[in-house]
Amino acid sequence: MGKHTSPPTALAQAEPEHLALVQSALLSWYEQEQRPLPWRETNDPYAILVSEVMLQQTQVDRVLPKYQQFLAAFPTLAELAKASTADVIAVWVPLGYNRRAVSLQSIARQVLADYDGRIPDTIDELLKLKGVGRYTAGAIACFAYRKQVATVDTNIRRVLHRVFLGLEHPDPKANDAQMLALAEQVLPVGHAYNWNQALMDMGATVCSSGNPLCGDCPLQQQCAAYTEMSQYSLFPSGKVLRQLRKVAEKKTGYQARPFTSTNRYFRGRIVDLLRSTPAQQRIPLTALGPQIKPEFGEQDHDWLQKIVEGLVRDGLLDANEEGVRLP
Ligand code: ADE
Ligand code: SF4
Repeated sequence: MGKHTSPPTALAQAEPEHLALVQSALLSWYEQEQRPLPWRETNDPYAILVSEVMLQQTQVDRVLPKYQQFLAAFPTLAELAKASTADVIAVWVPLGYNRRAVSLQSIARQVLADYDGRIPDTIDELLKLKGVGRYTAGAIACFAYRKQVATVDTNIRRVLHRVFLGLEHPDPKANDAQMLALAEQVLPVGHAYNWNQALMDMGATVCSSGNPLCGDCPLQQQCAAYTEMSQYSLFPSGKVLRQLRKVAEKKTGYQARPFTSTNRYFRGRIVDLLRSTPAQQRIPLTALGPQIKPEFGEQDHDWLQKIVEGLVRDGLLDANEEGVRLP
């Protein structure tokens, strides 16, 4: 999530009548329109943990088949904890961002060692697991244990921001701490599960980042962003929102980073290559370079070294003077 410079002051309170309308409209909408997703049909905290880690950086459509395959390969937390990391990565690879696989397994190992295999049910305990942040802790406490807690991911942040604070570009009106405070303030107690899932569905289907379908939105009459857009005749269109985003990028100096996505591509290539190399056999960096990048030359050595160091840091690679292999 982005960093904002506004001080961590409290936001204006949502008006009680307004809040009640938003809550009932969104909860009714969810009753009708919720997406049937397999992790909403289980109370198994392990399966929910797997789904949440997968969903962190991957769209629902792509997670669906992988979620089933992963649970078929590692049906329990203990089985995941005891598997070899290479096997876990092998099942994970098509999803990308492979460090998540290593992180998920290390969470499983920590739960087995420190909590006798039972995933904790409070945010404080969940946060002690290495690699579990406030979003995932909230999601597990809420979705697996039905705790009445708020949680904020990018979809929830966008929907809450638009409904209660207005358009998020060019000026985000809340930093992460303020968004969490707002999410806690507006949580309908007793309905946290449906509420949090509903906000995610809204963000994924109706209130998308670039092209919100305000005409189909159950919150239109209550939405601050919609009111703003109508006032300024910025009728909700992807074009307007993209322009606002550009203004925001100029103002904050924020930019998408192509370098990172390129590095991510080569990280993936290295892991793929090593997976098709006989186990235990190390590949020297001088041989690795040309195999992942045909035009590899002298000048690329430092670059490759950095990528390898990153993979080692993330637990995806084992490196010594002789070369690299999977852990
Ligand atoms: N993204 C993260 N968690 C999710 C969930 N439980 N359902 C749908 N999308 C999600
Ligand atoms: Fe999002 Fe538009 Fe609905 Fe507001 S009215 S919540 S901007 S889709």
